[in-house]
Amino acid sequence: MRYLVTGGAGFIGSNTVDELVRRGHSVVVLDDLSGGKEENLAEIRSKITLIKGSITDIEVVRKAMHEADYVIHLAARTSVPRSVKDPIETNRVNIDGTLNVLIAAKDVKVKRVVFAASSSAYGETPTLPKVESMQPQPISPYGVTKYVGELYGQAFGRCYGLENVSLRYFNIFGPRQDPSSPYSGVLAKFCTAFLEDTQPVVFGDGEQTRDFTFVENAVQANLLACEAPNVSGKVFNVGTSGRISLNDVLLTLGKITGKTLEAKYEPPRDGDIRDSQADISQAKEFLGYDPRITFEDGLSRTFEWYQSTQAKVQAQAKSEK
Ligand SMILES: NC(=O)c1ccc[n+]([C@@H]2O[C@H](COP(=O)([O-])OP(=O)(O)OC[C@H]3O[C@@H](n4cnc5c(N)ncnc54)[C@H](O)[C@@H]3O)[C@@H](O)[C@H]2O)c1
Repeated sequence: MRYLVTGGAGFIGSNTVDELVRRGHSVVVLDDLSGGKEENLAEIRSKITLIKGSITDIEVVRKAMHEADYVIHLAARTSVPRSVKDPIETNRVNIDGTLNVLIAAKDVKVKRVVFAASSSAYGETPTLPKVESMQPQPISPYGVTKYVGELYGQAFGRCYGLENVSLRYFNIFGPRQDPSSPYSGVLAKFCTAFLEDTQPVVFGDGEQTRDFTFVENAVQANLLACEAPNVSGKVFNVGTSGRISLNDVLLTLGKITGKTLEAKYEPPRDGDIRDSQADISQAKEFLGYDPRITFEDGLSRTFEWYQSTQAKVQAQAKSEK
């Protein structure tokens, strides 16, 4: 099968592309490399087609869509704080860009589009765990754009018969998550702090909780969502159904690394939610989703990855001297 993965040079995208290639599929990646990196695809670079371009340009999207069977649409401006600072840019990529992907997908009659939605659609609704039937109440421009992407997918299903599935990811973490930007995933930043013996920064009191989900679980959901029967137009939570506070994450990293680091607590960030936890019974039932990698295993593997990446960078710097 031929897959188009938009945002395929990013964190979740490159992990998804690895698995598709491993299974022998043909893969086209469309990515403008604004957040992702070509080096994320280094190991399988000769086996895929990488188109460097933006989903905001419909002609580029049409070219990338050529003969695609499935589309896994991950390209997006992914930062909540950045969406608060610049909602127009987030809207342009996440909504206008998604519309381009859907139009091109319906024109070439792909089998299905799987859309990277987000738990941020739930916003501050106090009920836990979050169930897909709850009324979305996003509290940030980013959350709004992700919810609109779901609605557009469903409308394209109704109006043009385009099969679509939306996956509401809950705090995905793992190898290749970029720790360097101020907007990166918190676990990527914590791992780096433990590697470099710097103070991990916590926004708020650290008692906020998240359903941290190892990236391999999300990749599994992406692939199942392409092929599961009778699910078009549906929205699924992709998490683990657990809930871990940031303070507990720091304790777990302390156990993994044998270090104790004092966190630096700063005021909470705009648009951040307090608690998050997925009910995954729908994904289990309809997709056969089974998040096998636990939080602790995932965190150990993630830390090891940052450690080996840092070792490689240091060895290279030494050899260049
Ligand atoms: N990581 C999470 O916890 C999480 C949670 C919920 C939803 N999501 C969604 O999952 C998807 C992937 O997120 P990620 O964590 O891998 O982030 P990421 O930033 O690593 O990946 C996004 C990719 O999209 C690319 N991109 C951005 N704008 C583009 C454009 N205009 N045209 C083409 N490519 C563009 C970036 O270069 C990057 O490679 C996103 O849609 C995000 O909203 C992620």
